[in-house]
Amino acid sequence: MIPNSVIEDIRYRCDIEDVISSYITLKRAGSNLKGLCPFHSEKTPSFTVYKDTQSFYCFGCGAGGDIISFIMRQENLDYVSAVEFLARRAGISLPDFSAADTVHAGPSRSRILEMNVETAKFFRRMLFDDKIGAPARAYLIGERALSSSVVKHFGLGYAPAGSHYLRDHLLSLGFTYEELTAGYICGKNDRGYYDYFRGRVMFPIIDVSGNIVAFGGRVLDSSKPKYLNTSDTPAFKKSKNLFALNYAKKSEENSLIICEGYMDVIAMHAAGFTNAVATLGTAITAEHARIIKRYVSKVILAYDSDDAGRKASDRAVRLLEEAGVDSRILVMKGAKDPDEFIKKYGREAFRRLLDESRSKFDYTIETVVGKYNIDNADEKIKAANELCLEIASVYSRVERDIYISKAAEALSLDKNSVRLDVEAAIKRSSRAEKKKQTGELIRVTSGISDRVNPDFAKRPRAARIEEALLGILLIHPEFEVLACADKPLCDEDFFTDFAHRIFSFISEKNKTGAFSVSAMSEAFTNDEVSRAVRMQTARRGLSNDEDTYKTYVESLREENRKSKSDSLEDILSAKRSQI
Ligand code: GTP
Ligand code: MN
Repeated sequence: MIPNSVIEDIRYRCDIEDVISSYITLKRAGSNLKGLCPFHSEKTPSFTVYKDTQSFYCFGCGAGGDIISFIMRQENLDYVSAVEFLARRAGISLPDFSAADTVHAGPSRSRILEMNVETAKFFRRMLFDDKIGAPARAYLIGERALSSSVVKHFGLGYAPAGSHYLRDHLLSLGFTYEELTAGYICGKNDRGYYDYFRGRVMFPIIDVSGNIVAFGGRVLDSSKPKYLNTSDTPAFKKSKNLFALNYAKKSEENSLIICEGYMDVIAMHAAGFTNAVATLGTAITAEHARIIKRYVSKVILAYDSDDAGRKASDRAVRLLEEAGVDSRILVMKGAKDPDEFIKKYGREAFRRLLDESRSKFDYTIETVVGKYNIDNADEKIKAANELCLEIASVYSRVERDIYISKAAEALSLDKNSVRLDVEAAIKRSSRAEKKKQTGELIRVTSGISDRVNPDFAKRPRAARIEEALLGILLIHPEFEVLACADKPLCDEDFFTDFAHRIFSFISEKNKTGAFSVSAMSEAFTNDEVSRAVRMQTARRGLSNDEDTYKTYVESLREENRKSKSDSLEDILSAKRSQI
């Protein structure tokens, strides 16, 4: 448990505007602030920061909370680590509660990070060990031609071939088996614990704050699997990390080069292209795209020049576009990947390639035109339809106009007829979108897919009153003790389990005078906290005084009485009809 005083201190010293501004751009909107939501892809801002309540709420995806839940989501941390993170930022020193945390919730992020530092040191020592590291040095510095300064810059290492060197080393430093497995250092079979990484050159993965969060390892020969990567751990999520972003974010370029592999990134950095990053053995995700958007507005995709690479590029372009990042695709001829290209043709040739990298739409035209025989009228129509659909999905009118000209030229069609087709396609897709949104709204309001409060749909009237009531109570937790009619709000008044849990939490915390939304993150999931903040946000601009509160308590009780009598009625009438 974290002492209340620490939470208070953090809330006092970390202003929500400052903290959130370091991740996204906030613009003033009335007395609040608005920006593009970091938790879902959007083009118009619906992410709102309320300075008076020090909370945030996104009207697009429903994420909400306070500064601690923001950091939990944004940095992918648990409650305790988010508190530590903010405390560090504000220069507040903390008592060590991570040890206590270990007993209950498994190894903490901070222990795993410590273990990773020791692991990276061990791998490096092995790489430079005269005897043990010889084959790995022969591979990296010999075969792959890396300079030893590049090897050091990236902190490369070697996992020796035995199955428990690292295990024994970490145990001797006081790490536990539980930590070794939680951190994806060791696996367990019937013969005991064994090192996952054996006989591989090792690439530490460092996050933007400088923590070693994971490792990738490559075999020295052609055995399989070629690469092995850390699976998700309490300190690492594949879908949120990019290899070398810690360096690339410092680059002067306003763009990132994204490629497939560790070796490609290293080759590019070594050749001076220090804005290169790679996803970690996965395709690019929407989360990656949002992270990228935080740093740059342009991306050059340098995926392998094979079929899989082209597919991956297409997918990446789409995801990046959704996140508002412009992308271009690098077309490499005569080499499989950037590493090979630079080795074969040199850095100047690669620079020219970057300069020439075609816009994504030129690439689309080339693909579509290549797919159809446009001398045949039927096929030409198909090609035109495909291109129009593609253009219709572009958000900017100016951009669309450029593409319309390009498509018309490529298919030797009249520009105006292409434009008409594009406009028709836009109308069709916006109708479909509207329908989808209405469906979504109906689902949400009728509570069908309400995972946070599954009881809501059973008695929406009562559930809505509960939400209004809690909305007020979250603003004025002190109202809890107010007598309404004859007695204060109590457990029996609640119908949905979720509302009841929030109420119990508020009254529990009130006993020590320590209720705040921040405290909620300790006992509720992010989605639950978001829902609570939604209730609170819904009360903005409405009256939230004692009388309003009492009226809601009374209407909730009235609702409950009615439903009780309804059901009694049902029972009696059923009996009657039986008789
Ligand atoms: P080199 O052969 O060392 O030049 O590697 P490469 O980067 O050319 O390799 P490749 O294109 O085969 O793979 C690109 C990336 O995919 C690697 O950096 C890994 O992150 C991932 N990857 C490749 N092979 C495997 C594998 O067998 N398992 C897993 N999990 N990931 C792999
Ligand atoms: Mn390669």
